[in-house]
Amino acid sequence: MLTDFRTAIREVEQYLANTLSIRRMLTIVTSERGGARNARYDELMQFVRFCITGESHPVRLPDIPFYLDWVATAELQHGLTPKAENRYLAVVAIDGLPAESWPGILDSLDLMPLTYRWSSRFIFLDAETARQKLERTRKKWQQKVRPFFDQLFQTQSRSVDQDAMTMVGEIEDAIAQAASQLVAYGYYTPVIVLFDEDQSVVQEKAEAVRRLVQAEGFGARIETLNATDAFLGSLPGNWYCNIREPLINTSNLSDLVPLNTVWAGSPVAPCPFFPENSPPLMQVASGSTPFRLNLHIDDVGHTLIFGPTGSGKSTLLALIAAQFRRYEFAQIFAFDKGRSLEPLTLAVGGAHYAIGGGLEGEGPVLVLEPELARHFPFVHWRIFRANPIGPGLATGSRH
Ligand SMILES: Nc1ncnc2c1ncn2[C@@H]1O[C@H](COP(=O)(O)OP(=O)(O)OP(=O)(O)O)[C@@H](O)[C@H]1O
Ligand SMILES: [Mg+2]
Repeated sequence: MLTDFRTAIREVEQYLANTLSIRRMLTIVTSERGGARNARYDELMQFVRFCITGESHPVRLPDIPFYLDWVATAELQHGLTPKAENRYLAVVAIDGLPAESWPGILDSLDLMPLTYRWSSRFIFLDAETARQKLERTRKKWQQKVRPFFDQLFQTQSRSVDQDAMTMVGEIEDAIAQAASQLVAYGYYTPVIVLFDEDQSVVQEKAEAVRRLVQAEGFGARIETLNATDAFLGSLPGNWYCNIREPLINTSNLSDLVPLNTVWAGSPVAPCPFFPENSPPLMQVASGSTPFRLNLHIDDVGHTLIFGPTGSGKSTLLALIAAQFRRYEFAQIFAFDKGRSLEPLTLAVGGAHYAIGGGLEGEGPVLVLEPELARHFPFVHWRIFRANPIGPGLATGSRH
């Protein structure tokens, strides 16, 4: 039986690995007291505990086998705003799905500057059960198509209910889809769980989430009487609390589940000529997720920046040049148009040369960092090639 279970898990893992990057949660063993003892920290327990209390910290497994429901546990107080382990929790339920869905429909939740847990529980029904449930809904609408008296006395008093007709048609499509087994039907319960020590803060957070979800065209409400049930239903492995009608199919589900997140960039610079584990060029933030900017792809960092006049191109260039100085032995040569790099050059103690004029002259300007003096013959040669009949570098700036 255990072997069957392992084989099944392996199958699911390989099946999902085709489209998602997934990782098995493991028990990490580290030695303690100079190797005298081993400590085991379990990632699955850490996740379960995070779901229950909203706090993510390593959970150490006891050396002597112990009941799991005592390892990952918390005290839960019922109420309109329940408390788990002395932290208030709020549950925002997403309902009233929009008429259409598309992949990544709720991405904007990623941009919020708060920690939340989004639980998307989908309870699959087998084709036969789904068909029965859909059939029941179909009958309900079918009865509405013609008024009750017409049905009873076999008369035709007024026109049929077009809306009910459409619904019957749609449900029949759904029954056909379920029978074809191309999609599966099930109960979908999406909730967002928030924690905070302060009751008013957790309420504010919940309201912010509700506003955002509603702005995307969903219905959302902050659970009150149903809060405990909704919270319990969001815990892994709980399939009996907070079941939500109606049935939805797996193709809608794939649009609604949060499978994508903001790409945060590479945390190390990808150029192989930089020292090992060099930091990214810079970190910027879009929403609350940091983005690590690297211009390099492998060892090539060619970059084109374009934009209308005054949109900040030169400022960005100066920022990139300034950030690039974080790498050891970094050298910056810049051909400067309109002296936009002059303030930065002077600020970092670099040299700013006007080609074909004095330091104050107009025309293209060359910016050098102080330690670049040894490369000067090379630069010198390049300038004369570019400007063979000009007067060359101003005497004042010749080293
Ligand atoms: N991120 C930013 N936030 C606020 N102001 C900015 C930002 N980037 C640039 N600016 C300001 O916008 C103005 C124009 O910037 P900049 O000179 O870099 O534009 P540009 O694209 O190089 O223009 P041009 O095409 O004329 O060379 C400057 O006053 C600059 O200080
Ligand atoms: Mg400019």
